[in-house]
This record gives sequence, structure tokens and C-alpha cells, in this order.
Amino acid sequence: MTILEAISSRRSIKEFTDRPISPDEVEQLIGAAIRAPNHRSTEPWRFYVLGPEARRAYGAALGARKAKKVDDPDAAEAVLNKVADKHAELPAMLAVSMLIDENPEIREEDYAATYMAIQNLSLAAHALGLGTHIKTGAVMDDPRSRTAVGVGSGERIVATIELGEPAAIPDPKKRRAVGEVTSWVA
Ligand SMILES: Cc1cc2nc3c(=O)[nH]c(=O)nc-3n(C[C@H](O)[C@H](O)[C@H](O)COP(=O)(O)O)c2cc1C
Repeated sequence: MTILEAISSRRSIKEFTDRPISPDEVEQLIGAAIRAPNHRSTEPWRFYVLGPEARRAYGAALGARKAKKVDDPDAAEAVLNKVADKHAELPAMLAVSMLIDENPEIREEDYAATYMAIQNLSLAAHALGLGTHIKTGAVMDDPRSRTAVGVGSGERIVATIELGEPAAIPDPKKRRAVGEVTSWVA
């Protein structure tokens, strides 16, 4: 698969098979991630490979946030458990964080670089026949999620990545034509 083929056929994967993902595979993907461009070589990214307990705890944090919107206590508990179970059952999941530099300019560059690393990881996974789904949201800053991940106080979680062998490949999401988003400036 060429890089252009990988870019155009990558999808966010929402359903995975039961095939386990090996530590070697995960390390190979992180190896691709850390080749990302990075101004000042700050290497701001940190990768947390979550085992089933950590995934369940992260899912429980997310589930608890969703459950707050449900009035009935039994239904709320069911929501929490469902989200926790779903996370525990994932073939693999990573949390990606970045070190928070005190300089806002460096912080912004570091955030950009960390997302370039995430894109590398997603494309490398795709090239190896695996699928990824990047997830974000306010849950990333929730103390319960941070505890689940074990992230340090000087770090910010910027994404979680669900990883596994795709069970279904979604249709491509529509994108605007190149001409609609491009200005040629003389
Ligand atoms: C920064 C970022 C955050 C995302 N957060 C979520 C998320 O919280 N939940 C979700 O379902 N998808 C999330 N996605 C995946 C996007 O929804 C997905 O990339 C988009 O629908 C386009 O589909 P594709 O990746 O298959 O091309 C995120 C993607 C990015 C780049």
C-alpha cells in the first residue's frame, strides 16, 4: 500500500474483531508515531497502552459522565456499565498525552506535533491491516479518566485511540473538493 493509498482508504473504525493486538504491533505503531515532525525536537508525546482494567476504568469515567444525564438510577447504572464494558472489550486502546510546556507557542507546536504522531500511528495501523478510532472530549480532563490512564500532572491527554482489526469498514466521509478549500495566492 502506498502512502497515498493509505491516506485515501483509512477510515475511523468503529467495530473490531476479537483478534488480540500484540505488544509488538503496538510498539511498531508507536515507532511510526514518534517519527512525526516536531519543531525544536521537544518530543512532547507520551503513549499509554491501556490494559483491560485501565480501559474499563476509562470507560467507567466516560459512562459516569453520560449517566449523569439519565434520571432513573437503574438506567444510569446500566449506561455506566455498558460504556465501561465496551471499553474493556476493545482489542487495544491507547491514551496519547503531551507534556505541557509553559511557553504557549511551544505548547501549540507540541499539540500539532502530537497530532501528527497520532496521524502517523493511524496510517501505520491501516497499512498493517488494523483500524483506529481517535476519540476526544471533556472526559480527557476528568480526574477519573486521568487516574485510569495514570497520566502525570504536567501532561494533558489529547486523544484516546481505539485499535484493532476492523470488523467493518465504513463508507468514506464526504469531503469538500480541493478547489473549494484552496486559494492560489499570487
Ligand atoms: C481531533 C479528533 C477528535 C475526534 N474525536 C472523536 C470523538 O470523540 N468521537 C468520535 O466518534 N470520533 C472522533 N473523531 C473521529 C472523526 O469523527 C472522524 O475522523 C471523522 O468522522 C471522519 O471520518 P474518517 O476518519 O473515517 O475519515 C475524532 C477525530 C479527530 C481528528
